[in-house]
Amino acid sequence: MIILKSKHEIEAIRKACQVVAECHRTIAPLIKPGITTNEIDRIFEDIILKHGAKPYEKGYKGYPYATCASVNDVIAHGFPSDKPLEEGDIVTIDTVAELDGWLGDSAWSYAVGKISPTAEKLMRVTKECLDLGIAQAQPGNRLGDVTSVIQRHAESHGFGVVRDLLAHGIGRDLHEEPTYMHIGNPGKGLRIKEGMVFTIEPMITEGTYYMTIDPDGWTARTLDRKLAAQYEHTIAITAEGPQILTAQ
Ligand code: MF3
Ligand code: CO
Repeated sequence: MIILKSKHEIEAIRKACQVVAECHRTIAPLIKPGITTNEIDRIFEDIILKHGAKPYEKGYKGYPYATCASVNDVIAHGFPSDKPLEEGDIVTIDTVAELDGWLGDSAWSYAVGKISPTAEKLMRVTKECLDLGIAQAQPGNRLGDVTSVIQRHAESHGFGVVRDLLAHGIGRDLHEEPTYMHIGNPGKGLRIKEGMVFTIEPMITEGTYYMTIDPDGWTARTLDRKLAAQYEHTIAITAEGPQILTAQ
């Protein structure tokens, strides 16, 4: 069942989402060689707590941190650590804040210093996939309109679209219906309606889209250990079109 949200509820979700947006805005200029993902995690948690919000990932299904920090071949759900980021790394920071019982979810990939042309292209194409998908999230369209533009754009550059981790509806719960892969066919799938709130969060890979999970039970890596990038926004569907609630 899809839980449609009223305008009032969407404004409440936007408040949670804007806490996450502030985290990303704050960290963007600080990501440089030498910073650790534990330091980033601490900054995110401090901002979330400062707003009277809760770092929702911490404790979610036993996940131990406020953020996921996914470096290079890690697709998602990497653990923050004390290992300094190095020039040329790419790192995706993902967090969820809960404010007044409502959730906001956004992930962003960052370049650490100067990165390779391949890494730069992967990040650019992944962000374009997110933007193209959002533009299709119009009331009356179908989810396949969103997912097919993402798949077509990624694959046209020879990149892979991760299938094993899903986008999701969001509200009082982190993973509401619909849950969906970022692949599909135009005109197919669920009809998008005013009042829906869901994430669009393409995970795009340099090589294969197959992944493995580390023995820690969380860290999802590309099977071929090539790079992965991800950008995620929480969006609301309104009569006027999609609104990016986690807009920075
Ligand atoms: N933010 C992630 C999502 O898009 C959730 C991370 S799962 C966690 O669904 F357990 F690591 F928090
Ligand atoms: Co998400």
